[in-house]
Amino acid sequence: MKPPIILINYKAYENSYGEKGMEISKKIEKVSKEYGVPIIVSVPATMIYRLSKETELIVYAQHVDGLDHGAKTGSILPEMVKDAGGKGSLLNHSERRIRLDEIHDAIIRMRKLGMESVVCVDRYELVHSMGILNPDAILIEPPELIGTGIAVSKAKPEVITRAVDEIKKVKGVYLIAGAGITSGEDVYKAIELGADGIGVASAVMKAKDPEKVVSDLVSQALKAIDKRG
Ligand code: G3P
Repeated sequence: MKPPIILINYKAYENSYGEKGMEISKKIEKVSKEYGVPIIVSVPATMIYRLSKETELIVYAQHVDGLDHGAKTGSILPEMVKDAGGKGSLLNHSERRIRLDEIHDAIIRMRKLGMESVVCVDRYELVHSMGILNPDAILIEPPELIGTGIAVSKAKPEVITRAVDEIKKVKGVYLIAGAGITSGEDVYKAIELGADGIGVASAVMKAKDPEKVVSDLVSQALKAIDKRG
């Protein structure tokens, strides 16, 4: 059985970095080990090195620039992320959109470096065209539901089912769904609708008891994957 994809996007919350960032990461790591499910965390660039060294989580950047080395002030190159221990990156998140050619360049660069890329799209109509660029996964997130606690899998299930139909047209690209995911039930539903996993942020980062929330998400993801067979 292929494990569900669980991606926790730390964004730039107060507990996304520093000691608080370590604390929440240790809790997430504990759940990951308990269930034997790898968990991807997309973290601020400043945390990639430390989290890669001090946890067994799969650490991603939240963005990379698919640029060559050189005079590029402020750029984060895939090589830098890899050197810090990062295994991949999100690209084109709704909160960090980039041009299509920039997405493509970054995917190519990361693939050459053996890194993974997860491209975000805000609508199912883009799933096929982004899929052709050959990322490892597409993360579909209707922006209007991000951070609302209203799950895409419940409020807009058709976004997931249509995205699933689109992803079938390209080979070897996973489909992840996110936006408003709050409970294990939301995750179960997303996987039941055909997603390979989920992306989540606020429900975990703002939780009083993040361990309990992640445990609920992971256990229901496993249940849904198991049912799918
Ligand atoms: O990348 C995941 C994120 O955008 C979803 O955010 O807060 O709705 O879980 P949230």
